[in-house]
Amino acid sequence: MNFLLLNGSLRAGSVNGAALQTLQDVAPSDLQTALYGGLADLPHFNPDDDHDPLPQAVTGLRAAIEAADALLICTPEYAGALPGAFKNLLEWTVGSTVLNGKPAAWINVSTSPTQARDAHDSLRIVLGYVNARIVEEACLHLPVPRGLVDADGRIHDAEVRDSLREVLKKLSRIQ
Ligand SMILES: Cc1cc2nc3c(=O)[nH]c(=O)nc-3n(C[C@H](O)[C@H](O)[C@H](O)COP(=O)(O)O)c2cc1C
Repeated sequence: MNFLLLNGSLRAGSVNGAALQTLQDVAPSDLQTALYGGLADLPHFNPDDDHDPLPQAVTGLRAAIEAADALLICTPEYAGALPGAFKNLLEWTVGSTVLNGKPAAWINVSTSPTQARDAHDSLRIVLGYVNARIVEEACLHLPVPRGLVDADGRIHDAEVRDSLREVLKKLSRIQ
């Protein structure tokens, strides 16, 4: 199986990115993971541009999603919603069928008292809109304080790593 990992944050020291990179470290050897790196290259979504020839960044995004057996999303909340850049990525999928029936789960690493709930409620709505298949049993709220991210950009905390491994196991049980 191969999973596409999507980070909603563009920040160099992203906690969400650290969670996804750590997830790659703990992934069992029979499971492929690819960290999507094209978020910053996507143009602003414009329905007028949603036709062939599509911008290269958009064809790359759609191909990466198509090639994946499942998506694993890790995104912060900005101003009570999904980050604009990540919502933009999701909008570029609406005019295609790439997310139709695609298994998807998220790991919410927020340490905020509000648990970034609004962003994740919104993520659920958008994924529903494009008919993605939300794998509820693999979705997890796993608060990760920034201090747990080490200089190598990874999380070495054993409990966090066990929880991340468990998410992968649950997601790989999809039929
Ligand atoms: C512009 C901005 C807006 C934010 N808005 C929220 C918010 O509405 N709710 C929340 O829980 N955290 C909010 N945060 C905090 C981020 O979610 C938090 O810093 C998160 O760790 C960023 O993820 P990253 O480290 O992967 O970039 C905001 C941060 C920024 C920079």
